[in-house]
Parts: sequence; structure tokens; C-alpha cells
Amino acid sequence: MLRVVRHELPGQQEYPGGAFPLTYLCESKDAGLSDAMAWVRQNPGARVAEANAHGAVLFRGFPIRSAEDFDLAVSAFDLPYFAYDDSLSNAVRVNYSERVFSANEAPPEATINLHHEMAQTPLYPSRLFFYCQKPAEVGGATSICRSDALWERLLAEAPTFATACQEKGLRYRHTMPEIEDPDSGMGRSWKSTFSVSSRAEASQRMLELGYTGEWLDDGCLRVTSPALPAVRPLGAGRTAFFNQLIAAFTGWRDSRNRPEASILHGDGSPLDVAGAELAASLGEQLSFDIAWEPGDIVLIDNFVTMHGRRTFEGTRSVLASFTA
Ligand code: FE2
Repeated sequence: MLRVVRHELPGQQEYPGGAFPLTYLCESKDAGLSDAMAWVRQNPGARVAEANAHGAVLFRGFPIRSAEDFDLAVSAFDLPYFAYDDSLSNAVRVNYSERVFSANEAPPEATINLHHEMAQTPLYPSRLFFYCQKPAEVGGATSICRSDALWERLLAEAPTFATACQEKGLRYRHTMPEIEDPDSGMGRSWKSTFSVSSRAEASQRMLELGYTGEWLDDGCLRVTSPALPAVRPLGAGRTAFFNQLIAAFTGWRDSRNRPEASILHGDGSPLDVAGAELAASLGEQLSFDIAWEPGDIVLIDNFVTMHGRRTFEGTRSVLASFTA
């Protein structure tokens, strides 16, 4: 039987639900993958409930040595999987297996700002698994932030802005290339994003999803999302700032996009710049950086916790698997 203990990380945060992130350390050095899967299978529902209560659960020291191991480890949680291909994610990713794909392939010098996965679209995963195959030589932490804590602070410090977000919702605007652009964190082509091969099919898909679009001369497509909620009740008195406001407002920049043009309220009115800047600075203040070790897996409740990526040097391999 695997020996697993709760572990305290330096700088770990404390909330009423407990440590953030909750960490399990596997102390059995000669354990195999099947032992790890058996440990998960003892009570996968408890780990998922912990991810909800704590925001994130880090599994360290478990014998997970490859993308295939990660795929099997995720399968032990017995959660319905969320297909990247069917999603409207902006990111360019590479699939390793049906369930496992690369985390955002954006270049090392790009920061990926805090966000709830795919909250800029009507289709988002409930839970995220990230697996560190190889940490970067320098940097490359995954930052995580409790969204309910951020919402409480924002509501207290900028109530007019917070309430405008809550009441009006948010629309996201960005320009997608015709051909995938791997140099951008948001370089997924419109063909891939909408799973189509022609403009006519893309237009039909946008209509179904409530998007509006404009074709540009260079083959790019500028889309505006339907008004999406900015805030999500979590139950038990908790509320999440469930959106992509920080990432869009501070980071949606590439050769086609400018952050200041990428987000507006659901009624078309502009965001209050000071309010959006405060949200970003609160996110930074409340972040915890997961300094990856090889074999680490983190389970994030996508409704409770935002995530982002720090810049890095060298090579970094972090894989992802999302569940519905
Ligand atoms: Fe993400």
C-alpha cells in the first residue's frame, strides 16, 4: 500500500476551506503506477471534493513518469473528459492522447495571465489536471489564485466595477488567424477553433453559439462572444470571479490583438480601466506559484481557482487533461 501524507509547501495559503493548495506527498519510493492508481481509486470523489473546498490539490512524489502514465492516472479519477478539439479555446495545443495534450504552447517569454479555463467561451471544463513532465530550467511556475477570495476583495475595494461586471456580464473580442500561429498564446486558427473548413461553416457555427464575426482581408476572423457571466455562485456563500477579464485585459496581445480592445461589458460599454487594473493586481497579490517538480500533478477546480503561467528559460513540458 502506498504511503501518502499531507504536506506543507513553503508560502502555502490558508482559507476557511483549508490549505491552498492542499498537497499530498507520496513517500513510497519503490511504488509503481498501478499503486498510484489504486490509491486514487480508493476514493476519487474525496479528492475532487477537496479540489472544490481547497481550490487545488497537488500530488507530489507519485510515480508518474510519462504522458501515458498521466493519462492513466487521470482515468483513475473516473471523471467525464472534456475534449480540447470540441472546445473554443484560443490556445494552440498538441494532443498526446485522446485525454492528454500540451498546456499552452505559447513561447517562454510570454506570461499567461490568470484566467479560468475557457471562461471566455460558453463551453468550459469543470476541472483541470496539469502534469509536469519536465520543469523549466528557470521559472515556468503555474500560478494559481482563489477566485472567491479575489471576488471578495474586488467587491470591497471597487464595488461599482464589481457590480457592473456582475450585472452586465462580459464580451470578449479577438482576431483569429486562418492558419495556426504557434508564436502566440492565442494563435489557434478559426478553422480549428470552430472545427470547420470554410467561412460558411464558421459563420453557421458562430450563429449557433451567439458569436458575431467580421472577415478581414488577410483571411483572419475578428469575433465577438455573446455576453457571458462574469461571476459564478459556488454555493455555501462563495462566489467566483469566473471570467477571463484579467488575462484578456492585460495579456491578449499578439500581432493581431491588443488587450485594451479585447474585452467589454455585455451591453457593449467599456470596462473601467482602474477597476480592471485592480482586479489584475489583486490576482497577483493572491497568487501562489506552483514550483514544479518532475512527476507533479495538480488538480484544479476550474470554477474556484484561476491559473496562469510564469515566463521561463529552457525547456518546459507541462501536459494538461480537462474534465467536463
Ligand atoms: Fe489555461
